[in-house]
Amino acid sequence: MGCLPAAPLRTWLGLGLFALLCLGLGQAREKRVVKSKVGEKVSLPCCREIPRSESLQNYRAYWQKNVTDVVLAYSDGERIRIHERYRNRTEMDPWDLILWISPVEILDNGTYQCVVQHNSVVACDERVTLLVTADFSEPNITTKVSTSSCESTEMVIVCSSHGGFPKPKISGALNNVPVEWNASWVSEFSLYNVTGTLVLNMTSDVNVTCSVEYDSLAKSSSLLLKKTNDCVVPPVPPSYNVITASSIVLIIFILAIILATRYLPRRVCPHCCKPQDLVEEDMKEGTKPPVSSKVTSETSSV
Ligand SMILES: *[C@@H]1O[C@H](CO)[C@@H](O)[C@H](O)[C@H]1NC(C)=O
Ligand SMILES: *[C@@H]1O[C@H](CO)[C@@H](O)[C@H](O)[C@H]1NC(C)=O
Ligand SMILES: *[C@@H]1O[C@H](CO)[C@@H](O)[C@H](O)[C@H]1NC(C)=O
Ligand SMILES: *[C@@H]1O[C@H](CO)[C@@H](O)[C@H](O)[C@H]1NC(C)=O
Ligand SMILES: *[C@@H]1O[C@H](CO)[C@@H](O)[C@H](O)[C@H]1NC(C)=O
Ligand SMILES: *[C@@H]1O[C@H](CO)[C@@H](O)[C@H](O)[C@H]1NC(C)=O
Ligand SMILES: *[C@@H]1O[C@H](CO)[C@@H](O)[C@H](O)[C@H]1NC(C)=O
Ligand SMILES: *[C@@H]1O[C@H](CO)[C@@H](O)[C@H](O)[C@H]1NC(C)=O
Repeated sequence: MGCLPAAPLRTWLGLGLFALLCLGLGQAREKRVVKSKVGEKVSLPCCREIPRSESLQNYRAYWQKNVTDVVLAYSDGERIRIHERYRNRTEMDPWDLILWISPVEILDNGTYQCVVQHNSVVACDERVTLLVTADFSEPNITTKVSTSSCESTEMVIVCSSHGGFPKPKISGALNNVPVEWNASWVSEFSLYNVTGTLVLNMTSDVNVTCSVEYDSLAKSSSLLLKKTNDCVVPPVPPSYNVITASSIVLIIFILAIILATRYLPRRVCPHCCKPQDLVEEDMKEGTKPPVSSKVTSETSSV
């Protein structure tokens, strides 16, 4: 409203310039954002500096939050009021009216307004948004096998991160393909813990990535999941068979050698005693003559 020309402007150029100025002011007003992390020191700029030449007597300045809560107020260069929550954490420079907060707390998040009065007339008022963030921990990815077969392993993957602000988004990827986590949040003293759960049917190795995003910041971790085969028999048999077969062959070979070394000498010995056998044979042959005598007797009877 303060931007509307009070007096009619003569030239289009003048009007154009004025519109530009208003636009610029409006943008500056909306975009006045200060970011800070929990525990840091932050300064919120005011809309006016009191000229050193002027007396503080004529000025009154205050910072308020959320429209109604007075953070602190100065009159005649003296602090006249301070909000209990900001005590010992807040200072305002009596000349440049900058509000310093240290250490920043999560509850400090919000929109602040600086108001300057000069001789009881509002000289300026401006809003500054303080965006407080608290870093989340590195996401922790844990896995648990729920069911497993030879072809696939069903895994429950849990990604968790804690102690951050504001409320985060959790996103992820499996082999760089985006995936949706089933997310849940808990909050304690304004800090968030986030947990994402995913059930994955694993058929091969998978690279799992988990990212926790909060106010344009992100923390991510990844984990390479190796497909393990719980069923030892079907996938591994080739090597197993070779081992068993070769060991059987080896055992047979060893047995054969043992048997050979034990029994071969005895077989060789009988050959040494062969003459005896021959004698025996000769003697058997010597018993044959009766046959011929029988024949002779037959022939004699004829
Ligand atoms: C502002 O104050 C009102 C009332 O005290 C409260 O309900 C609201 O949540 C506050 N808003 C912020 C952003 O702090
Ligand atoms: C501020 O500091 C004073 C002195 O160090 C201490 O007595 C007081 O309790 C503090 N107040 C708060 C709100 O921390
Ligand atoms: C923090 O403050 C900003 C600006 O007022 C607001 O948009 C945001 O919702 C606040 N965050 C929380 C979690 O209150
Ligand atoms: C990740 O979570 C597991 C289970 O909750 C825990 O044992 C482990 O210490 C955590 N690791 C880290 C780095 O926080
Ligand atoms: C997400 O988790 C909740 C609670 O554990 C469960 O009831 C819900 O079915 C899950 N959703 C999906 C899509 O898995
Ligand atoms: C958030 O996580 C931290 C660290 O694991 C734990 O100490 C705390 O109790 C959790 N908060 C809630 C509300 O579960
Ligand atoms: C996982 O895959 C196996 C075989 O590919 C199938 O039998 C099983 O139902 C699947 N499980 C889920 C949860 O998709
Ligand atoms: C897994 O994927 C992430 C993101 O693409 C990458 O940074 C990381 O190096 C990968 N890890 C492995 C072990 O491939």
